Amino acid sequence: MANISTSYLGLTLGSPLVASASPLSKKLENVVKLEEAGIGAIVVYSLFEEQIIHEQADRDHFLSRGSNAHPEAQAYFPDLGSYNLEPDRYLAHLSAIRKAVKLPVIGSLNGVTRGGWTEWARRIEETGVNALELNVYSIPTDPVVDGVSVENQVVDLVAEVVGKVGIPVSVKLSPFYSSIPHLVSRIGSAGAKGVVLFNRFLQPDLDPENLSVLSAAKLSDSSDLSLPLRWTAILSGRVAPQIALSGGVATGRDLLKALLAGAQVGQVASAILSQGSDVVGRMLTELGEWMDEQEYESVDQLRGSMSQKKVADPAAFERAQYMRALTSLDDRFV
Ligand SMILES: Cc1cc2nc3c(=O)[nH]c(=O)nc-3n(C[C@H](O)[C@H](O)[C@H](O)COP(=O)(O)O)c2cc1C
Repeated sequence: MANISTSYLGLTLGSPLVASASPLSKKLENVVKLEEAGIGAIVVYSLFEEQIIHEQADRDHFLSRGSNAHPEAQAYFPDLGSYNLEPDRYLAHLSAIRKAVKLPVIGSLNGVTRGGWTEWARRIEETGVNALELNVYSIPTDPVVDGVSVENQVVDLVAEVVGKVGIPVSVKLSPFYSSIPHLVSRIGSAGAKGVVLFNRFLQPDLDPENLSVLSAAKLSDSSDLSLPLRWTAILSGRVAPQIALSGGVATGRDLLKALLAGAQVGQVASAILSQGSDVVGRMLTELGEWMDEQEYESVDQLRGSMSQKKVADPAAFERAQYMRALTSLDDRFV
């Protein structure tokens, strides 16, 4: 049987399939089930910059009111338990997960601006997790802000977070940057050991009758794989950070494609949310069987063998492919 163990961000993983950040990790029992099913590592759902800032504001407000009324304002601290302590609960949950399983556990911090809230990276590290994933989901809407400023903001934030922790940091990106290769290499220079390609954008819809904006999140399927697959193939072997492919990994074959393109690991959320943790075993069996049939001995041996640098037709990932695809469509309709 092929060896499907691997490494990611310097951590040893039993398999190249990582559970990505999602509500799955809110219950300890789910994490244990995923470990039993063979998942290689788990990324815990995110703690958001907004949650931290909100909690900070609550504390400051409470303390300043207290300090005006009472000189011993510090005495109010024990009563803060009734306030929004979501960030503290998050840390407690990370510690509990770390203790409950043996596999690598990755905390997730979600935010975009530099500031005091990034101190929580250090607190997350103190829970004993093995790595930190930084999700920099943001939508630039201001016509005055140029692309370089948007990218500088990401790189500065990464450098700030990396400077606060000793554990490896990976950065989860959106696909909407003008030069993904340049940004990823800058993120590597800023100290990140990995990038997650890509964050799933929750696209809003419009309800014309009620004149309201709908923001229902949809789960993905294998048809969502092509975008991260292309960028993984293009970046693999060209940039320093390891690549975790996220988006549309729903079968063992999808995971195999991610690895062939050059991903260090594939991440999965939707397939587990919709099919349960058993899907992990099915995906890994499918991967192992294919490797046995094709006589690959290890994941490391097959990784990147279909990256842009290795395939016979590198233009297939670029503009030439666009021309070919359009021409083949034209042929069908003319
Ligand atoms: C319900 C739900 C909640 C999610 N929550 C988070 C989160 O807290 N942090 C994060 O970085 N990504 C979050 N994601 C994104 C997933 O980690 C993943 O990147 C995305 O769903 C694409 O992978 P998939 O195609 O396997 O679902 C969430 C996704 C879903 C469906």
